[in-house]
Amino acid sequence: MRTETGTTFQLSDYRESDFIVDAVDLTFRLDPERTEVVSTLTVRRRPGVSPDAPFVLDGDEVELKSVSVDGQTMAEEDVAETGNGLRLSNLPGQAAFSLTITSEIAPERNTQLMGLYRSSGVYTTQCEAEGFRRITFFPDRPDVLAVYTTRIEADRESAPLLLANGNCIETGDLGEGRHYAVWHDPHPKPSYLFALVAGDLGVLEDDFTTASGREVALKIYVEHGKEARAAYAMDSLKRSMRWDEERFGREYDLDIFMIVAVSDFNMGAMENKGLNVFNDKYVLADPEIATDADYANIEAIIAHEYFHNWTGNRITCRDWFQLCLKEGLTVYRDHEFSADQRSRPVKRIAEVRLLKAHQFPEDAGPLAHPVRPDRYREISNFYTATVYEKGSEVVRMIATLLGEDGFRKGMDLYFDRHDGEAATIEDFLACFEDATGFDLGQFRLWYDQAGTPVVSVSTVWDPGSRRFTASFEQSVPATPGQAKKDVMHIPLRFGLVLPDGSEAEPTSVTGARVTDDVLHLTQRSQTVQFDGVSARPVLSLNRGFCAPINVHFEQAPADLAHLARHESDPFARWQALNAYAMRVLVEAVAKERAGGTVDVDPALAETMIATAEDETLEPAFRAQALALPGENDIAREIGNDIDPDAIFAARRAVQTVIGKTGAEIFARLADTMETPGAYSPDAASAGKRAFRHALMTYLSLADASPARANEAFAAADNMTDLSQPLLLLAHFFPESEGANAALATFEERFHDTPLVIDKWLSAQATAPGAATLERVRMLMEGEHFSRSNPNRVRALIGAFAAGNPTGFNRADGAGFAFLADEVLAIDGRNPQVAARLLTTMRSWRSLEEGRRRHARAALERIAAADKLSSDVRDIVDRTLA
Ligand code: PHE
Ligand code: ZN
Repeated sequence: MRTETGTTFQLSDYRESDFIVDAVDLTFRLDPERTEVVSTLTVRRRPGVSPDAPFVLDGDEVELKSVSVDGQTMAEEDVAETGNGLRLSNLPGQAAFSLTITSEIAPERNTQLMGLYRSSGVYTTQCEAEGFRRITFFPDRPDVLAVYTTRIEADRESAPLLLANGNCIETGDLGEGRHYAVWHDPHPKPSYLFALVAGDLGVLEDDFTTASGREVALKIYVEHGKEARAAYAMDSLKRSMRWDEERFGREYDLDIFMIVAVSDFNMGAMENKGLNVFNDKYVLADPEIATDADYANIEAIIAHEYFHNWTGNRITCRDWFQLCLKEGLTVYRDHEFSADQRSRPVKRIAEVRLLKAHQFPEDAGPLAHPVRPDRYREISNFYTATVYEKGSEVVRMIATLLGEDGFRKGMDLYFDRHDGEAATIEDFLACFEDATGFDLGQFRLWYDQAGTPVVSVSTVWDPGSRRFTASFEQSVPATPGQAKKDVMHIPLRFGLVLPDGSEAEPTSVTGARVTDDVLHLTQRSQTVQFDGVSARPVLSLNRGFCAPINVHFEQAPADLAHLARHESDPFARWQALNAYAMRVLVEAVAKERAGGTVDVDPALAETMIATAEDETLEPAFRAQALALPGENDIAREIGNDIDPDAIFAARRAVQTVIGKTGAEIFARLADTMETPGAYSPDAASAGKRAFRHALMTYLSLADASPARANEAFAAADNMTDLSQPLLLLAHFFPESEGANAALATFEERFHDTPLVIDKWLSAQATAPGAATLERVRMLMEGEHFSRSNPNRVRALIGAFAAGNPTGFNRADGAGFAFLADEVLAIDGRNPQVAARLLTTMRSWRSLEEGRRRHARAALERIAAADKLSSDVRDIVDRTLA
């Protein structure tokens, strides 16, 4: 384990490497306990670098055997092991040379799942960000690009399949039951994109012809017998490949594209060149085991990793500070892909919900950092919602500013100019400026300033002069290391919605630049006048959630209801409805805390019911309209002195009122949402199921009875229809016979499918209330849980901490103490998983005083542990700072 070093890396310290590596030739002699790695690098000193400069290579838990230069073993005094790598001195000054390093690693004992490890008997690698140094000594940084040739030797019986990046150029027999394969990847790449897989796996095969006629073999490797479950992933892959050609003019560039599904993986998936490695959760699906949400995730993640082939691999990052260069951009691309494959407004609602649920709290808490951070202690901790999701939103804003054509021109220039390079955010932005002439000077602050900007709005309508005035005030909250912020360029799509639902077309707008329907805020405060408006309009601001900001705007409930019914943009309808519901919920929480009874503005219920009934809207949208903001959303809105129990009670009360008010209509609608015939994962069918489930939830509350859920559970013939009533029973009627019976049935049916058991674990871990902690402890003792599998840890402990506000934030602090114990227990074996678990504590300061005290104690106990990984040390220090 890499333990705390206290080193902070700074963006401003960037220096090119002294040595250039043109080629890497690797030989792996695979063995679980002693794998020999022979690495031969073709190296040159960068012109201008002193001939005495040593070559410094990174290394972590690699045992050095020998080093030679041009076939000559190096003198001992020229080879220094530094604790985190090698320093080689007295190397040739001018000429290129060949450096051969022989070393050993133990894949079987690699529990961090970084470097070369084994998962269910399959050798696999994970190198991003700094895992290659756990395989061999190497300048393990993304700006060292080389052509790799990989020879793998292994037992034929346990590893008939030998894979690496690129194309297979040779295979053969070695006698004594061993064999080998050689792979060559012609595209220069950084070490973090290296991959190797060896084992015994089944395969689903297909092919794809690119726009220019290249035949590509497609292979998805999974556990034997599960091949059919890779069909949806394969279909998603082919659609992704076509889409990237059509939308961005990007073709695939090798003769083979492979995906391997593994069951022990720290993240979702990894874009290794030509050989993506996936968490099996994001590959395997069939109607019996996967929900609609699983299908949508598979589609999105398959696309995401595939899209990295251009945004990440062909053009990579100069250093890890530039992580958003590939991640934010690739998330934007996968969002656009899903929007094209499914319903654009519904997809956008899901994105915004996710952004607000994960990124906004990050940006508002102790772990806040810019989309492009300028310092880090542990890079693994920067694979965050800010880098990914806010990074994507920033790219989306560039597209908003430049328009579709301008954006495409900038992207074309980027691919053209930087193909084969390791680039920076400055390089990226320059392409858009050069391609369109648009000045992104102020806009680029979005990459450098952390914190969610706040825009406060007030409006005045003057019927006499037919002038509508809107005043804007922007600010960016202070965040760690950034007390003062500069004024940002905030693009806001807007509309002025008239009483009849049509849109005002003012004769003039003064006080801000407006391009099409985008208002540009560029000053700390701005007053904008719209003249020639025919009647009092309602301002619809930030349509499409164009800018990732918090808007403070005391819009009257009647105005929100007007937008919810009449906005022409469906996303904006949802946004208005959601804002309205939030207003009512926050008031309800205040009442609840003051000991009063919660009452609900009848107009909210009416508007929600009217939206549910609106046949012009697709069912998926209507499902979103019925979903109230979650407990964590409400907590974020309230901001401080949070009492999760009051939030829970108030929300449940509001939900019940809406259910009772709409019961008759909801029951009628539910009957129209049948999806006859065999299950199909398409978006329209999924939307009907989602809507039906939303209706069933309200109806069950109105009835105060689990009867409907019991019935639905019994009738279900697919995982979506089965898991939804399961959750309903476990969360709303936990004491009922039906809940226990359903959980037992579910376990019995799926006990040997761990991915499905994860749903069973999560359903229980997220059941509200203080008693759940005991249930979680019990499940940890059971046969299905294992601390060594990241999916199990996330499904049980992660779901409890992140998705159970009343259970985790128990008033007695037992939830926090439990999490601290688990973080410490897991840290020794898998620091990345432990550090990520700990981020669930990031909002501790916004809790009411008693809980806050308990949370601090738990955090301090972690901080005081005598042996922490650098990952957990980094998170705990920042969380307490
Ligand atoms: N680069 C991967 C992705 O976003 C995520 C990842 C990071 C996976 C680090 C493993 C390790 O697509
Ligand atoms: Zn990615």
